Amino acid sequence: MTSTQAEVEVSYDVSNEFFRLWLDERMHYTCAVFESPADTLERAQANKSRILHDLAEITRDKVVLDIGCGWGANLEVISALGAREVHGITLSPKQHEEITARRIPGVKVWCVDYRDFEPPVRYDALVSIEMIDHLCSPAQANQGLAVELYRAYFEKCASWVKPGACFALQAILRNRVPRTREDLADLKFTADVIFPGGLNPRLEELVAAVNPHWEIVELYTRREDYGKTTAEWLRRLRANEKRIRERWGDRVFADYDRYLSTCVRAFASHWSSDVQMKLRHIAS
Ligand SMILES: C[S@@+](CC[C@H](N)C(=O)[O-])C[C@H]1O[C@@H](n2cnc3c(N)ncnc32)[C@H](O)[C@@H]1O
Repeated sequence: MTSTQAEVEVSYDVSNEFFRLWLDERMHYTCAVFESPADTLERAQANKSRILHDLAEITRDKVVLDIGCGWGANLEVISALGAREVHGITLSPKQHEEITARRIPGVKVWCVDYRDFEPPVRYDALVSIEMIDHLCSPAQANQGLAVELYRAYFEKCASWVKPGACFALQAILRNRVPRTREDLADLKFTADVIFPGGLNPRLEELVAAVNPHWEIVELYTRREDYGKTTAEWLRRLRANEKRIRERWGDRVFADYDRYLSTCVRAFASHWSSDVQMKLRHIAS
């Protein structure tokens, strides 16, 4: 498998307090959607969750699963907007701890690999925000396994839902390859040091992999939004430089500064993008 539990812990378990310093107040660790130039990061993250809520067709009577639910930010929004039950799975013990501490009404969370998850119900709707980026390693992609691995994921998701259910999927994408040695080294650093075991999919791989289980009903790209999101994360990280250096050391600050600076350039230069899709389950 890709992104083992140990690798996921490298990405998300530095410390909940560390991430709280530079993410938004709910700790969404994914692309926000800036609908107006005046939107704060907090507002833009709420926009993102509302858009996905609508794409998944979540209503008050539905039981919903968020696959790769982070620290519970999107679970909080779904719960506040209204759903019968909201379930989440994460592979990170620290994220699981944080969600449990938040005591969100109607929310149940499991620390489990999606491959081992045994759903207690058939879901009415699914949401997954930038978790699929953990499912295929660079080595597996080089062996031509990407579509097969993503299809296995979509097949499993399809087995968890009621016929015709909607799935709001958000994924980081890889697009162009940088031209300079320095830029390539920065991207490799981000992949190896910050997100070991993962690889951003190509849009065409996802389009191929949803078949034959899901129909793509709507699709939006969010490259510029991710540029703004990562620029704001970097600004907040730098605003907390002194505290981060004192508490977690110079290395943590330098690594996260390099990673977030690389992200800002990656979205500006089209090396990376982001997609939101509305998928509808095809009953066989
Ligand atoms: C980039 S974070 C996104 C978190 C959250 N969706 C958000 O918007 O902030 C990716 C999430 O996927 C989870 N994850 C990665 N691989 C997983 C797997 N095999 N099974 C379950 N969760 C996984 C991680 O634990 C993490 O919560």
